[in-house]
Amino acid sequence: MNRIFSGVQPTGNLHLGNYLGAIRNWVRLQQEFECIYCVVDLHAITIEQDPQALRAATREVAAGLIAAGIDPKKHIVFNQSQVAAHAELAWIFSCVARLGWLNRMTQFKEKAGKNRENASVGLYAYPVLMAADILVHKATHVPVGEDQKQHLELTRDIAKAFNSQFGVEFFPLPEPQIFGEAARVMSLRDGTKKMSKSDASDYSRINMTDDADAIAQKIRKAKTDPEPLPTEVAGLEKRPEAANLVDIYAALSGRTNADVLGEFGGAQFSTFKQSLADLAVHVLGPIGAEMKRLTTDPSFVDAALRDGAERARAIATPILREVHDIVGFLRP
Ligand code: TRP
Repeated sequence: MNRIFSGVQPTGNLHLGNYLGAIRNWVRLQQEFECIYCVVDLHAITIEQDPQALRAATREVAAGLIAAGIDPKKHIVFNQSQVAAHAELAWIFSCVARLGWLNRMTQFKEKAGKNRENASVGLYAYPVLMAADILVHKATHVPVGEDQKQHLELTRDIAKAFNSQFGVEFFPLPEPQIFGEAARVMSLRDGTKKMSKSDASDYSRINMTDDADAIAQKIRKAKTDPEPLPTEVAGLEKRPEAANLVDIYAALSGRTNADVLGEFGGAQFSTFKQSLADLAVHVLGPIGAEMKRLTTDPSFVDAALRDGAERARAIATPILREVHDIVGFLRP
């Protein structure tokens, strides 16, 4: 039986990069797998969060997943903190994982920056919690982006180490679920930087909740170069902004870059941007409207998360109980 687990950080400003890079793929996976999608609020507090903003972001991300087409009745959508088994297994795993393994995690080094002494213990142990997220559900497949591959590798190491330490074949070794072409969406202001929620300029990104006017305006103002679009894909080299807009068009329309350039090669950006704006509005408009509806009255999202947590608990609790037995915890 194949089971998908993936997690997403509760951050405000879900944007086109989140949609094309992850969420859209999560929607598709529902057809083939049993899917568990988790808003990882425990991971979020590894860096300081404003409590009100965290609550709002948790709802917004859950609303985004549901608005994009994840069915919280057929599959599971929940927030991590509601299922205590995650944190509990993370403790047990922190006694299996080795300092040396965590010392190699590149994301910690990036996130902790220069002042590593001042990083939280949680930030350091972050990948251990991620391993617990996946394995407490015995997930077999995990859709992750490039930046999380090392953490998934660590998850496999922890599963192997646990199995071998206790002489069991208990945890599966989860596989990364790679997508044909996970779109990497860059900033609309700088084609060499990833589109990011934390970029100071709102014009750098298309938010999932932007309305049609905002989407069109941001695309119109997107940075380009003075040349018309090339007719061949090779012509996009060293033209990061042009390449990004073509990538976005291709991803939104499900076409290849070559195909898009077959239609727009030789055209001026003004023409291409108009078509791109129409396409983006067509795809994102209904999702953004639904997100707004779901966040205005959060009762639906809250109920979906509560129900999701209950069903997640029903999967995780018996697995955790077996772990207790394997480890030797007394159950009188
Ligand atoms: N660390 C992931 C990220 O920042 C989020 C995450 C937490 C996750 N737990 C997970 C992803 C389990 C996949 C599986 O994107």
